[in-house]
Amino acid sequence: MIIAQNTIQQILSRVDIIDIIGTFVKLKKRGANYLGLCPFHNEKSPSFTISPAKEIYKCFGCGRSGNSISFLMEAEKYSYVEALRWLANKYGVEIEETETSPEYKQQQQAADSLYIINNFAQQFFSTQLFETDEGQDIALSYLKQRGFREDTIKKFQLGYNPEAKDTFSKAALAAQYNQEYLLKSGLVNNREGVLNDNYRGRIIFPIHNQSGKVLGFGARIIKKNDKAPKYINTPENEIYVKSKVLYGSYFARQPIDKADECLLVEGYTDVVSLHQAGIENVVASGGTALTPDQLRLIKKYTNNLTIIYDGDNAGVKAALRGLDLALEEGLNVQLVLIPDGEDPDSYVNKVGSSAFTTFIATNKKDVILFQLNIALAEAGNDNNKKSLVINQIAETIAKINKLEDFSKQQAYIKQSAEILKIEESGLIALVNKHIKEKVYKDETKASRNQEFLNEAVDNALQIDNDAALLLSKDEQHERAMVRSLLEFGNKPWNDEETVAKYMFAEIAENQLSDLIDNKNLVRLLDTYKIWYDNGIEPTTKNFLYHDDVELSTLAVSIMDFNYEISPNWSAHFEGHIPTREDLFKEEVFSTLNYLKLRKIKRLIDENQLELEKAIGNDEQMICLQTHQHLKQVEMELTKQLGTVIFR
Ligand code: GTP
Ligand code: MN
Repeated sequence: MIIAQNTIQQILSRVDIIDIIGTFVKLKKRGANYLGLCPFHNEKSPSFTISPAKEIYKCFGCGRSGNSISFLMEAEKYSYVEALRWLANKYGVEIEETETSPEYKQQQQAADSLYIINNFAQQFFSTQLFETDEGQDIALSYLKQRGFREDTIKKFQLGYNPEAKDTFSKAALAAQYNQEYLLKSGLVNNREGVLNDNYRGRIIFPIHNQSGKVLGFGARIIKKNDKAPKYINTPENEIYVKSKVLYGSYFARQPIDKADECLLVEGYTDVVSLHQAGIENVVASGGTALTPDQLRLIKKYTNNLTIIYDGDNAGVKAALRGLDLALEEGLNVQLVLIPDGEDPDSYVNKVGSSAFTTFIATNKKDVILFQLNIALAEAGNDNNKKSLVINQIAETIAKINKLEDFSKQQAYIKQSAEILKIEESGLIALVNKHIKEKVYKDETKASRNQEFLNEAVDNALQIDNDAALLLSKDEQHERAMVRSLLEFGNKPWNDEETVAKYMFAEIAENQLSDLIDNKNLVRLLDTYKIWYDNGIEPTTKNFLYHDDVELSTLAVSIMDFNYEISPNWSAHFEGHIPTREDLFKEEVFSTLNYLKLRKIKRLIDENQLELEKAIGNDEQMICLQTHQHLKQVEMELTKQLGTVIFR
């Protein structure tokens, strides 16, 4: 569809910038110019200036400037074509379009017809609500009892469709609306050639497009009925495309612009109630995940999205599903949970508008960190899950990858590292890998370059490893120890005993299991020992394929573990760089030593406490001697470890 060039000429020849802007802004003449309050930012004294001679406007407060068309595009968020259509309509210019296909014409016709039917229906339902006995007694009284004022009901054009089976159908047929389009609109159904109403005995919420035309309806049941759904919505058709609809956006767009924030709620009633309470920058998603189109709609008006949902609600999860996309679009997303089983509608009615506003302002949570905390709580002590969480957050943070958002990304890394209790530098590295992966993915989509693909795969594999490495140093040492048991347990330690036997003796003697927080690691050790004591020599495979899923996943992640021998080794062994296999004794020895060292440190701390409490010289003496002994052991262990360095 292209607007013909001579139509554009006609429109532009009639454009009067004072007339156009004057429909949105109150203007006063000042010399040759006109002056008003800027519609693009909040101001008390006017600095918005229009020059009719030059046909331009400029605001000396916020710096915005442009011509009639750019004004409409900015103020009304119209596209260029929409602005032209608005002007054509205003000046009575008939739009001539060139090069339209028959399909397009047909679709256009369907769309036009649907708008006309919806408009008729909306007025019909309003009349039913306000001017019939049934409407007043059943529907209007219901709405009023819920606290909706008449001016609010009128503003949102709420209505009512009576309980009889065909009140609307009859009226629509009498007004000679086309049956095919009536069915398409979802307002009626066809049972054996007879048209009946779809929304019987329901409150009607018209859903408006950006310029206030009715796209479709949400219809809420009044009387409780277990068999019927609470809401029925318009089916998808030429004008109602669910994924593009945000309920309330027509009424909210200017308030969102002004507040530079969009509030997102779940339901129709939430939107209406908040508006009534003076909180107008609010739209509803209908409780499903946000779609790309909906996000783009919000992004037109603001970068700040605040999701307001019931606290204990599956809806929250749904809403958060669209989140990564929101980040990629550069939106700042915050979350407010409404307490005590209330929803925004009931809560604002309960506490009043100013308390509600305060509640929102003081209970915003950053949604990324909120999700992180939830995932972390779910992972509990399970370090496999925890490294998944680390990986996930790194991936999420990597998506904030626009130049202007760099500091935001840094802030998220810092806060997330704190929450996860991992090193910031490690998380930075991981995030960078994900960014790289994203680039790879984008690039491989474009090219089928094999080399590139290989690199991408390597990078992806390394990411999992790095997430595990970010676990606490303690856990890393524990895993390294268990790994050497799994891998080398059956090898001879000396002439008399195997590695496993030696290790279990050391573990028992030094009570090393006490140190290990990860219950599954302890379980793995115990399982190994039971097998071993019963004459079975467990191999890595026994664990990798263990039917206890927790043990087998743990074994997999342990064997995957990125365990590196210090580069110093290559200096020791000129020419030949030894493998872990060559050095298994050193590895067993030093992994045990790490745990022993921790044990010693713990004993030193405990002894220190005893010393502080010690009464009398003898007790103090014993403590001091113990201290000296422990320090001695610590030094030896440290010295031994010095020769094998773990990363
Ligand atoms: P009230 O109960 O009247 O306050 O409405 P509500 O908006 O609070 O309803 P609720 O919290 O149950 O649901 C939130 C939103 O989810 C609704 O506004 C609808 O958009 C949608 N929804 C709820 N129930 C249904 C249903 O049965 N079918 C469909 N299609 N959507 C529903
Ligand atoms: Mn509700």
